[in-house]
Amino acid sequence: MSIGHGAGHPSGGSGLLTEIDHVAIAVHDLDAAVAYYGSVFGATVAHRERIESDGVEEALLKVADSYVQLLTPVRDSSPVAKYLAARGEGIHHVGYRVADCAEALQAVKDAGGRTIDERPRPGSRGTTVAFVHPKGAFGTLIELVEE
Ligand code: CO
Repeated sequence: MSIGHGAGHPSGGSGLLTEIDHVAIAVHDLDAAVAYYGSVFGATVAHRERIESDGVEEALLKVADSYVQLLTPVRDSSPVAKYLAARGEGIHHVGYRVADCAEALQAVKDAGGRTIDERPRPGSRGTTVAFVHPKGAFGTLIELVEE
């Protein structure tokens, strides 16, 4: 698509954000959530991974070029465990694909935004990621994902 009218970035009309990589949903029971998406929508797991550094296990269901990321904590100290305790199941964060995670993170900092990660770090699937704090981002936890 050529939709780069005046956006100032080669990636097109959405600037630094090139696609929605995933929508992450925090759940108590990962197997139950996977079974629900499978039986109701026929969705299958494209990738499943335990990410020790974040204290979570994920199941990625492919939807066109994006994913639904079902996410459950594997230890009580996980931020997702705290989220579930405070707010219950539901949308946890939105992952946006970016060409350059460091560049996008710097753009957040330059705009005076709060970041959770000071610098890009390894994510699942061999990606490079950084999180932007929901305070300063209109209440949504944002993950910048570089493939
Ligand atoms: Co994510």
